[in-house]
Amino acid sequence: MEKEISKAVISRLPRYYRYLGELMEDGVERISSNELSQKMKVTASQIRQDLNNFGGFGQQGYGYNVKYLHTEIAKILGIDRQHNLIIIGAGNLGQALANYANFKKHGFVIKGMFDINPRLIGLVVRGVEIRGVDDLEKFIVENEVQMAALTIPKTKAPEIADRLVKAGIKAIWNFAHVDLVVPDDVVVENVHLSESLMRLSYRASSLQDQKKKEEKKKR
Ligand code: NAI
Repeated sequence: MEKEISKAVISRLPRYYRYLGELMEDGVERISSNELSQKMKVTASQIRQDLNNFGGFGQQGYGYNVKYLHTEIAKILGIDRQHNLIIIGAGNLGQALANYANFKKHGFVIKGMFDINPRLIGLVVRGVEIRGVDDLEKFIVENEVQMAALTIPKTKAPEIADRLVKAGIKAIWNFAHVDLVVPDDVVVENVHLSESLMRLSYRASSLQDQKKKEEKKKR
């Protein structure tokens, strides 16, 4: 891509993608930025600005071609192709991820799951077998795996991440509560549900504070 796109724009693209997908399912072929704006509760100018980063895709008086825009966003997000994924740690969270069928719809194919617990090894979750970590490197190479989800305790995560990187993994979806140190050509996306919950808590408590202040003023 010629132009560097801001992280803020990239972070909004999955939401555009989801809405456009829903519009496609409803048989909508085109949509104006105003209509999209009403649906998504984002200003129309924000939408135009965001999509202008990629040459716009819109036409004056016509709006956006939903299917075309959906396809272009998929290309930008790299979800127009298959990504082979493994999950390390087949406990509660690992199995929940493996059970979520929608990843496949977006091109993420779970090739394998790995764990050290002998009671889990050999079990099959949604067609994916849980394996021991001994042959991890071999499996990655043979199955052309590029991505790994880490759902293991934080104390174990750095060591496994090193092994993954050495075996050729280029993207780590990290759920373990630790900041991983990886080479420049490897990307890490941290997912921390509790941080999201804390943000929710912050918003809920500041809303309550605001209400209290307003009530005090009225008195
Ligand atoms: P869990 O205990 O059910 O599963 C962890 C699994 O990892 C176990 O099956 C264990 O045998 C396996 N394991 C441990 N060391 C391993 C190694 N070296 N290689 C392969 N497998 C290994 O725990 P749960 O609830 O699934 O959580 C997993 C991790 O994710 C924990 O570190 C937890 O703190 C974290 N977590 C993060 C969340 C987030 O939002 N980021 C949300 C929930 C959990």
